[in-house]
Amino acid sequence: MSPKSQRVLVTGGAGYIGSHTLPELMMAGHEVHVIDDLSNGHGVALERCRQIVGRDFGFSEADIRDAARVSEVIRAFGPDVVIHFAGLKSPSESIEKPDLYREVNVIGSLRLLDAMRAGGCQRLVFSSSAAVYGPPDFLPISEDHPRRPTTPYGASKAEVEDILVQEAAKDTTLTCAILRYFNPVGAHASGLIGEHPQDIPTNLVPYIVDVARGRLPRLNVFGDDYGTPDGTGVRDYIHVTDLARAHVAALDWTAGATGAREFNLGAGEGTSVRDLIRTFETATGRDIPFVVAPRRPGDVASSYADPGRAERELKWKAELTLTDMCRSAWAWGARNPEGYA
Ligand code: UD1
Repeated sequence: MSPKSQRVLVTGGAGYIGSHTLPELMMAGHEVHVIDDLSNGHGVALERCRQIVGRDFGFSEADIRDAARVSEVIRAFGPDVVIHFAGLKSPSESIEKPDLYREVNVIGSLRLLDAMRAGGCQRLVFSSSAAVYGPPDFLPISEDHPRRPTTPYGASKAEVEDILVQEAAKDTTLTCAILRYFNPVGAHASGLIGEHPQDIPTNLVPYIVDVARGRLPRLNVFGDDYGTPDGTGVRDYIHVTDLARAHVAALDWTAGATGAREFNLGAGEGTSVRDLIRTFETATGRDIPFVVAPRRPGDVASSYADPGRAERELKWKAELTLTDMCRSAWAWGARNPEGYA
């Protein structure tokens, strides 16, 4: 139910969530242009998106910090709205390189915002993270939960959020949807795009996929003595396609709203590590051997969203199941053992 076709600039469109958002945008009738420096994204992912939709779109290889180049792209494309995915996303790496995370995520976003506004674009959809919350005081986590990020990564997202809220308060023509992602997993139904594997994955689902294909011997379950129903960590897993569709809904929202507003994007359901292993095994028919290992430093017992605001105001809600997430992650992983390489 898109109001009308929009010109959408997508930064970081060659990354995991960005690439899944491109087909949804184009299928909703929007015209897309991607900026990506391909440091973490993949040119092949863009090719595959073209293949999925059967339509071309523009692409500029550029670093988000390169103000001159970004301004030039904005002037040439003339976006109605920007979806800003580009950024660094590893909490553990951010502890080693806090300055880099500030430079790319905060300064990069500021420069983009300046370039947008200079080019007459006043609508932004920003990729934030549940990492802004830190250890939860209460569950499910609603948008007014206090923010106490525990890593420079989470802090960089919180800082951009603050800037957007302040700027939108000063300038009532600026509209920002701030999207706080919980745990995105899974892959596109076509099996053509998915999460490009790291050497040794740190996130749970990519690790399980590597165990399923025999690349890793077994999963280490980080702690089974948490105060959760089965003792293992509980998270809010959301299918990356549902997440992608939330961006289309947020884009529509920016057309009719003013100000900056935060939205949790999760399924609103807690799933334990053991639940996930069981569902993956049933969905794919693969065995996932595991051992219980010590807790991972910095992990919380439980984290899941109250996604009610997104449902009410964005008219969006996660629809795909944990089985869909596992099946699609495996379909992609089995078909593309080297990812896009
Ligand atoms: C992590 C990041 C978070 C980021 C999210 C993106 C940290 C502290 N947090 O969240 O900022 O937004 O990824 O997806 O890095 N687990 C195992 N064995 C493994 C891997 C994970 O048991 O090999 C468990 C974890 O203890 C946790 C759950 O699986 O209970 C999910 O872990 P993970 O996929 O790494 O996500 P988060 O820690 O929630």
